[in-house]
Amino acid sequence: MDRTVTLLLGITLTFASSWLGLVFAPYVQMNNVQPIKGTTDDGVEEMYPRPLEGEAAYGREVYIANGCMYCHSQQIRSEHFGNGADIKRNWGVRRTVQRDYIYEKPILLGTMRTGPDLANVARRWSGQGGKDWNHLHLYAPRMMMPGSLMPSFAFLYEKRRITGEPSADALKLQGEWAPEPGYEIVPTPQAKALVEYLSVLDHNRIMLPEAQE
Ligand code: HEC
Repeated sequence: MDRTVTLLLGITLTFASSWLGLVFAPYVQMNNVQPIKGTTDDGVEEMYPRPLEGEAAYGREVYIANGCMYCHSQQIRSEHFGNGADIKRNWGVRRTVQRDYIYEKPILLGTMRTGPDLANVARRWSGQGGKDWNHLHLYAPRMMMPGSLMPSFAFLYEKRRITGEPSADALKLQGEWAPEPGYEIVPTPQAKALVEYLSVLDHNRIMLPEAQE
């Protein structure tokens, strides 16, 4: 008997079933997920998620261009995974679900965790103190975290000669990281946007019903 037809049929079915299971079914399940109204920890009612705007949206481009994703994920794993390790590490209060990412293109889930997950990093470093910390950390990771493996992103900053008053946004660098007297280190627009992006990164702002099962 000629087995060619059986073989071709087998190959077609194998590919078709994996396409149905891995592409088509998730597409149908997730395609229509919409923003939802919810209450933040501070008691504010808002639609969640919302698309990023302005400086924060530009900061996301800087994040992509500098390969932050090669070391940082942005996904909180389920409470049932690894004994809720992500939540115990204080990376989030609930797992992330598809609704968290509906406005993100591309989605920056990441697979490597050489550094901590950043899905909710704004919760850890919030406010202006947080912004200053992030600038110092991007410029000189080992000044803020001795022994850090994170590379320095000093090229996102500019060294300038101080003429008159020092700039208000000059970095307060110490020791070996400080520039020579008469000079200051200031953030470029890219560095400012990147820190703005980090300071709004909060995928856990609203408790979503589907993330509580
Ligand atoms: C080679 C790997 C690597 C790359 C690339 C990298 N990081 Fe990191 N990052 C780390 C490590 C390791 C830590 C933990 C130690 C520390 O805080 O410096 C860290 C820590 C951080 C923290 C502090 C997180 C917390 O919870 O305290 C932030 C914020 C951060 N990185 C942002 C960035 C941004 C933004 C970029 C891209 C411009 C980036 N990182 C690129 C490895 C990396």
